[in-house]
Amino acid sequence: MTSSRAHAIGAAFVAARARDRPPERVTSPNMRAASVAPAPARIGAHRRAQTRASATSKRIVTTFAVNTSAPARERASGSNALLSAIDDLRDRIDGLLPTEAKTAAVRASYTASIGLRFAFFLSQGVLTSRSNDERNVDVGAIASVVARVVLNTDESSSSATAPIVRKTMDGGDMSEEQAQEVSEFLEQHMGAIIDVFKRELEFVENGVYKFPYDMDPSTAPAAQWNPLAVAALTRAHQRDQKVVAERRKEKKGQELRETYMADPKRYPDYYLQNFHYQTDGWLSAKSAQLYDFQVETLFLGSADAMRRRALPYIADFMRNRDASTTKHLDVASGTGRFLSFVRDNHPELQSTALELSPHYLEATRKNNARFNGKGGSLRLVEANAEDMPLADEEFDMVTNVYLFHELPRAVRKTVAKEMARVLKPGGKLFFVDSVQIGDGKENGMEGAFELALDRFPAFNHEPYYKDYAVTNLIELFEEAGLKHEATATAWVSKTMVFSKPFDGQQLEAAATTMTVEAPVAEVVVPEAVVETPAAIVEEPTIAETAEVVEDADDEPPVEGTRKF
Ligand SMILES: C[S@@+](CC[C@H](N)C(=O)[O-])C[C@H]1O[C@@H](n2cnc3c(N)ncnc32)[C@H](O)[C@@H]1O
Repeated sequence: MTSSRAHAIGAAFVAARARDRPPERVTSPNMRAASVAPAPARIGAHRRAQTRASATSKRIVTTFAVNTSAPARERASGSNALLSAIDDLRDRIDGLLPTEAKTAAVRASYTASIGLRFAFFLSQGVLTSRSNDERNVDVGAIASVVARVVLNTDESSSSATAPIVRKTMDGGDMSEEQAQEVSEFLEQHMGAIIDVFKRELEFVENGVYKFPYDMDPSTAPAAQWNPLAVAALTRAHQRDQKVVAERRKEKKGQELRETYMADPKRYPDYYLQNFHYQTDGWLSAKSAQLYDFQVETLFLGSADAMRRRALPYIADFMRNRDASTTKHLDVASGTGRFLSFVRDNHPELQSTALELSPHYLEATRKNNARFNGKGGSLRLVEANAEDMPLADEEFDMVTNVYLFHELPRAVRKTVAKEMARVLKPGGKLFFVDSVQIGDGKENGMEGAFELALDRFPAFNHEPYYKDYAVTNLIELFEEAGLKHEATATAWVSKTMVFSKPFDGQQLEAAATTMTVEAPVAEVVVPEAVVETPAAIVEEPTIAETAEVVEDADDEPPVEGTRKF
């Protein structure tokens, strides 16, 4: 651990940018190189390897791989020479420092970095709220609540400070009692966020996973710490939030459909929405550029840390495994942030990122360019998770973060089955999504979650959220053939681990949700599995048939008029 971490100042966030040269694209008979530019759909039929040869539904299949062949590795290692030298130096210094000094340095670095991050995104949230709604957030009251939760004092919020807000979202007056109640509710949430950070520090201190690369100035993407880049992104975010606020006021969660033509095989209709009231939904480079900033603002800088709650389970799974022969699939990779933390800890993994938005897939590529030449590989697949152009039993582990709450009920089932299909027996699914109704009992957050889960969907245009919030996920994945192993919550996220039994192993009956504090899941070492070939991609053709998944009848109605 470098001493520079102790000076980890300026921990503001911008989406990670690639420092390395762009990865080489690979063309092979089995893998067609393709651009992920915002081009018209590359619609093609693909042949699934072996067992699914008969599946001919039309879908987007665009795959390319980040090459780790020897020449590419050499070039990449040339450009990474300086970084390797810094790594070596760091290791040497690390070896010389006494344990207590290292622990103190990690603690100081983490606290400084996460503290600044929290303060930065809190200020973004306050700024957005003050300029775009009429709630009159009291900054002084927020500051004293933050001080109280950070210092962990026992004073009751109601007696200690003025309410944080006195107005409702629509600008109506709250009674004194309501205002106090809302403030206590916000204080409870902030306390839970601080707990996520404390827990993460324990994991990092104990070497369960690495100090997050983007919180260390010596390894962070330059753009994340460059004040000019941060200022530019902040301005872009604030400008966009004005438009988002208008869209929210007018409840225009389906604005996207005014621009996009229907093509259920390319983009299913549930997908063509402005989730989070986001400009362009998932379908522009600008949306991908602003996404992480928006999410971190919403979660006051804790989104990455909540995602990382899956890393201890992954570390457990990877123990005694050779990463270089371990095949990993990240479904709905978004901008690739989570994938980057997995790969930072296991750089030799053979990873595949699957995403329906070409713009987000491109962000995944850029945000993961830092791992080029580190021994692993990344294959990018632009496709629908309902029908993945990937072979049966191809992957040792599948990860999936923040997707299910944005899917209709029937689609959730289909995607769960797809994830189970591509897992090898003995393989595991690491799933992260929102907490649900009934969660939070163990830390007294049940009521706070219920209130938040009730309000969040309308505030953030999440049409499938309420149904997700009452879905029994254990049953859902067990129906798909996976066995529940563990669940752990981190503020408003929960991580769940499932495994795919070997042939003949029985699934136990669905258990009730259990919360574990540390990874206790047993490591199941899979039997030797004969490798199935990678997905085979054919030239684009227009297929006759397509699977169109209808929304379940009991889904909450989606407002707006469909043009198709
Ligand atoms: C809320 S974001 C989560 C992204 C990322 N995993 C994260 O942790 O931020 C949801 C992502 O799922 C993708 N997505 C939604 N429906 C999909 C589908 N049917 N197939 C593949 N990707 C999908 C969206 O394009 C978007 O990038």
